[in-house]
Amino acid sequence: MPKRTSKPAAVAATPKKQQPSSACRVALIGFGTVGRAVAKILCETGDGSLQLTYICNRNVEKKKRTWLANAAPNNIPNDVLWTDDVQSVLNSDVDIVIELIGGLNPAEQIVRGALESGKSVVTANKQLIARHGSDLLQLASRHGCQLEFGASVAGGVPVLPALRTGLCGDRLHGIAGILNGTCNYILSRIENARIPFSEALEEAQARGYAEADASEDLDGGDARAKLAILALAGLHAQVAPESIRARTIRPLDAVDFDYAAQLGCTIRQISRAVLKDDTLFAEVGPCLVPTDSPFGRVQRNLNLVLTSGQYGGDMAFLGAGAGGDPTAVAVVSDVMSIAQSLGANTGAAGADKKPVASSVSTPAISAPTISSDFENPWYLRFFVRDQPGIVARLAQILAAHHLNIDSLLQKPGFDKAALPFVITLEPCRDALLHPALEEMSGLDFAIRPCLCLPILR
Ligand SMILES: NC(=O)c1ccc[n+]([C@@H]2O[C@H](COP(=O)([O-])OP(=O)(O)OC[C@H]3O[C@@H](n4cnc5c(N)ncnc54)[C@H](OP(=O)(O)O)[C@@H]3O)[C@@H](O)[C@H]2O)c1
Repeated sequence: MPKRTSKPAAVAATPKKQQPSSACRVALIGFGTVGRAVAKILCETGDGSLQLTYICNRNVEKKKRTWLANAAPNNIPNDVLWTDDVQSVLNSDVDIVIELIGGLNPAEQIVRGALESGKSVVTANKQLIARHGSDLLQLASRHGCQLEFGASVAGGVPVLPALRTGLCGDRLHGIAGILNGTCNYILSRIENARIPFSEALEEAQARGYAEADASEDLDGGDARAKLAILALAGLHAQVAPESIRARTIRPLDAVDFDYAAQLGCTIRQISRAVLKDDTLFAEVGPCLVPTDSPFGRVQRNLNLVLTSGQYGGDMAFLGAGAGGDPTAVAVVSDVMSIAQSLGANTGAAGADKKPVASSVSTPAISAPTISSDFENPWYLRFFVRDQPGIVARLAQILAAHHLNIDSLLQKPGFDKAALPFVITLEPCRDALLHPALEEMSGLDFAIRPCLCLPILR
């Protein structure tokens, strides 16, 4: 990494705030969408308890020029050091490092380096926390500092702080959520406009809700990393994101929303985790949900998380799951929470700040067996070349696997060469259904693989 630390900015504008001697020194590493929003909020709302001391990014001069050209009236104080030398930040006297560069490398080394030098860390990095969260929390604890990652799941929705504090008195057994705004935008657009999947995806990309390569979103990789973090924070279960089954939303068609509507449902990408004894049932993928349910009502790119607890029952958390400003709110809130425990505002902490010992005991983390063998009713959609005996053949296979048909739906007016119809099944375990689907995949009248979706009632 090139080493360059610029002199204090020659910006005038905002008069420098008087920083109390107990102000908590904060360094920002990563000055992109979220980093800039964090800087803006810190500069606009600061009460002197937090002091932004470093802004660190590669090619920082360019970032600084762009900020100064566009930032008024949110000018960053003159004494903030702009640098592209991460090590100088880690060697400095800052109390809190905010990591907002994303990805695993070098974010992991930066976070480890900060914690090992006794600095608390705030990050929004879901990849990092999903893979190394448990380990990094232990590292933080060994070095007497804190690691907060409230923005890593559901952006600005304060579900992680709720799990770690507001709900830690309960014994949670289930968490389910709409955790990917891109998928929700696409699915709710198909629902409302009955446009093809490809058109909804292009629209999401044009509006900046989906990246050019949206595979991580569409195929469930993004949501399962977030589900792994929720499982860690809420169910105290350590799970590798890759061990959670993820089903793609790509095969969905506008006609699926017609058939779902006949069943009183719509379709959403749902991430769900249920802890039963030593097994964590977990998966991510498109599911039918009742139109009038909390999930069915979530539109556009919003996120919703529902938790189920033994004592407190069900809770819901809804809001903006992404975007610079909402995500930055979660980041700044984490920074403020650490600063509070460092005693910055009370004057209790001086040069040698250490977090106040938490009065909340940390539950032991388990490593349960991971399974996707949920039991629920099912929606099976077939696209077939029409010929006599299709339904009889499918019914025969289902009966041979002891699976009960609940309903058969067929809309009129489709081309007989590509006829979509639906069979719904009574509740059964995923593991019992899949051999039947295997057998159906070899049928010569099927022109697309059967689309199989859980129905969540
Ligand atoms: N954006 C959201 O809505 C959102 C929501 C929730 C969570 N998050 C998380 O927040 C984090 C930041 O996201 P973002 O959207 O702000 O990303 P971003 O716009 O791409 O910003 C990342 C910044 O880090 C800099 N950077 C990257 N690698 C670096 C390195 N090796 N050394 C120094 N600087 C480096 C980048 O510089 P260049 O400009 O030179 O590439 C860029 O300025 C990620 O972990 C993301 O998953 C984002």
